[in-house]
Amino acid sequence: MPDQPTPMLQARGVTKYFPGTIALDDVDIDLFGGEVHALLGENGAGKSTLIKCLTGAYRRDEGTITLEGEPVSPASTAESLSLGIGTVYQEVNLLPNLTVAENLFLGRQPTRFGMLSRKKMVNLARKTLAEFGLDIDPAEPLTSYSVAVRQVVAIARAAEMSGKVLILDEPTASLDREEVQLLFSVIRKLRDRGLAIIFITHFLDQVFEISDRATVLRNGQNVGMRRLAEVTQKDIVTLMLGRQLEERIHVRSGGTAGELLVSADTLSKRGMIEPFSLDIHKSEVVGLAGLLGSGRTETANLLFGAVQSDHGDVKVKGKKIRLSNPRDAISHGFALCPEDRKTEGIVGELSVRDNIILALQARQGWSRPLSRSKINEIAEHYVEALDIRLASLDMPIRLLSGGNQQKALLARWLATDPDFLILDEPTRGIDVGAHSEIISLIEDLRDKGMALLVASSEMEELVAYSTRVIVLKDREQACELTGDDITTANIVHAITDETLERPSNART
Ligand SMILES: Nc1ncnc2c1ncn2[C@@H]1O[C@H](COP(=O)(O)OP(=O)(O)OP(=O)(O)O)[C@@H](O)[C@H]1O
Ligand SMILES: [Mg+2]
Repeated sequence: MPDQPTPMLQARGVTKYFPGTIALDDVDIDLFGGEVHALLGENGAGKSTLIKCLTGAYRRDEGTITLEGEPVSPASTAESLSLGIGTVYQEVNLLPNLTVAENLFLGRQPTRFGMLSRKKMVNLARKTLAEFGLDIDPAEPLTSYSVAVRQVVAIARAAEMSGKVLILDEPTASLDREEVQLLFSVIRKLRDRGLAIIFITHFLDQVFEISDRATVLRNGQNVGMRRLAEVTQKDIVTLMLGRQLEERIHVRSGGTAGELLVSADTLSKRGMIEPFSLDIHKSEVVGLAGLLGSGRTETANLLFGAVQSDHGDVKVKGKKIRLSNPRDAISHGFALCPEDRKTEGIVGELSVRDNIILALQARQGWSRPLSRSKINEIAEHYVEALDIRLASLDMPIRLLSGGNQQKALLARWLATDPDFLILDEPTRGIDVGAHSEIISLIEDLRDKGMALLVASSEMEELVAYSTRVIVLKDREQACELTGDDITTANIVHAITDETLERPSNART
């Protein structure tokens, strides 16, 4: 692997400017066939930009790239794909309304696949997906499957089409532990076939589990390459941040819950979630744990009126409320920061500023516009409080790095100063430094009297801030943990009926 004479892919001096930012500053990287190479760095460090420059999605301002020793200069992702470089971007671009099979074969050479009958295509898709451990119906539209399944379809597609290099930008952000293992077995298979694989993630355990080497970016510069067998997680984090991360010992600070704020009574939606009842008090964080598909997001959406219940009701301070859409929820002081920032969250073309004030403005009514100075004050406050890295508040939000978009979305809902805040996967795609900031933020909001419901697949995180944890299984509440019973081991146990405590998802 790393001592082969010619790298599969080599980049020298790659530089990329954006207005107000040097996103990449003279970056070198070497990738060898048969290795998994992690690309690490804080939110906004330049990871996604680097891979876009390698694949021709962005034009680099300077630098050279060679593939198996030959200079290449792909001008588009289609061209890099034809050279054997396949990519799954952070923001997965599949077409949800097409079938799984159609997505899998989207954009393939018509000479190879154009003549395929629909039936053959579906059969071929089924076979391909089976190799990736997915037993789903390829004739169904992609929308019928979870984000995780869509992710695996995107990876299957890229892997099938790329012969030399496979680039994965945060492929595991929305996968649960078992799905991560499924994906890793696929990655190992592809590595053993001789592909060079770039793996971008914020989960440090995963980096050490699957990668051979890692390159770390900081502020657009390559600050070092390490063989992972020779370093510790701490070494890598220090390299990423340029300083040591203070060890935060999470003392569970349960606190005492205040008065009852929101109660759901046998709320349900056929085929989506079994009847559940739930009381949420002020100064309380109720954690929602469970595997993907266990009903976490559905529970959040029902409580926010984003999905209509077909049974049961919701009360605020003992009074039944109408909850037929999110507007009703917002008028009662509810807020929901959703899991999927791309489809339910950000408005890509709007500025960061407008994205941040969107929910507050909606709550106040569009006929009563917030003043310019108020808008700026709010946007600036949250940019600072959440350390959102941007060149300007005027830039379209789609130009922010993934993690910074996530923070801006959180800012949007915090700006409404809700009484009841629902967070669905609040730390997805967030780097190691910002991650502990967000945990502290949740604790602060709780201590200031807010009622929170937080759905997360990261158990350690739930253990840190939850006053109660509800474990969902098969779309039902399987158990509730309180006080000293809130431990990762107990959550895992409740989810899987295993007593074995597995390592958690530590982050980079
Ligand atoms: N098209 C663009 N126009 C302007 N600025 C951009 C553009 N794309 C990226 N940037 C900026 O370049 C910097 C690097 O962003 P990049 O998306 O590469 O970060 P990243 O390391 O992938 O972060 P994350 O972990 O949050 O995904 C950021 O400051 C970002 O705002
Ligand atoms: Mg990125």
